[in-house]
Amino acid sequence: MYILAIDTSCDETSVAITCERKVIANALYSQVLMHREWGGVVPSLARRAHEERIDLVVAEAIKKSGLTYQEIDCFAVTQGPGLAIALEVGIKKAKELSEKYGKRLISVNHLEGHIYSCFVQNSRGNPNREIKFPYLASVVSGGHTGLTVMKDHLTYEVIGETRDDAAGEALDKAARMLGLGYPGGSAIERLAEEVDNSDVYKFTRPMLKSHDLDFSFSGLKTALYYLVKDMGEQKRNEEIHNLASSFQEAVFDTLIRKTDQAMKQTGLSHLLVGGGVIANKYLRKKYRTLAKKYRGSAYFPTYTYLTGDNAAMIGIVAYYKALQNKYVDADHLDRIPRYSLEDL
Ligand code: KG4
Ligand code: ZN
Repeated sequence: MYILAIDTSCDETSVAITCERKVIANALYSQVLMHREWGGVVPSLARRAHEERIDLVVAEAIKKSGLTYQEIDCFAVTQGPGLAIALEVGIKKAKELSEKYGKRLISVNHLEGHIYSCFVQNSRGNPNREIKFPYLASVVSGGHTGLTVMKDHLTYEVIGETRDDAAGEALDKAARMLGLGYPGGSAIERLAEEVDNSDVYKFTRPMLKSHDLDFSFSGLKTALYYLVKDMGEQKRNEEIHNLASSFQEAVFDTLIRKTDQAMKQTGLSHLLVGGGVIANKYLRKKYRTLAKKYRGSAYFPTYTYLTGDNAAMIGIVAYYKALQNKYVDADHLDRIPRYSLEDL
């Protein structure tokens, strides 16, 4: 079964062709450089860029796959969460293609996609990646941070969520305060790799005393803001490595401690962690160490390009939805900008 999947939820125009758990072709046009000038994603610019590029990206994915449009069995698209006016572009294109080629449509939640990016098979078929439920799944991205119990395919019980900023958003805001540009997660990672003591500033870990599994990162951002303001620019620049690494450590330590709490509470020992922030090698190490403590494993997106936004992950979810006959009618398909895993 060949699926052509589209994701235009934020600032990447992405189209992929998948077959079961394999990625046959992936094409992506990133708008990051365009939004960088504004220090973040500008929705109206994102929409226009998606509209300008979508046909080219679809054509590129088809070309890379070596397939014809007639060989595609169904079309899949991200329905949300994301920017409303950006999501609309992908949905319109998916509807158009499905009508033109007389193939069915599948809608996918972007967060499911980030989770399923851990199930992608590699060229050897990924024998170690047998899917064995249950899992504790976590999305750590620029827009979302949460903990979800997955007892089977396509079923999600959300047990923790961020109350304000997502982990990636916190890193991006910190990077801006440190003059590192947007997006900032990878810039912070590079600076943090250069220090011996990763936690010189010991920021207070947010929400650890609360007994629930929710996250909050906005207080951390405020703490950095006042610290940097009091320091002045020269000292800030001298201290930039320590500031970046201490901030990163506080964010990651909070993620790990809350996940630890969730594992203790649920008895789950196998982790799935998806989303842009899990490109970070130091964070992967922390999740692996945590899983080991419970004699479990931590699974991440199979390839780095699957950590950030991509349509391949949408195609993988769509395959499991097709197996369950979960198709949608084009007339009833509309974007859901605040689509939660709980709505599924
Ligand atoms: O999944 P994603 O591409 O978009 C959303 O769905 O939000 O995640 C983007 C986020 C950004 O906040 C970015 O700073 C962060 O992922 N990120 C990283 C790294 N690479 C990207 N954070 C930490 N370390 C990295 N290497
Ligand atoms: Zn995403």
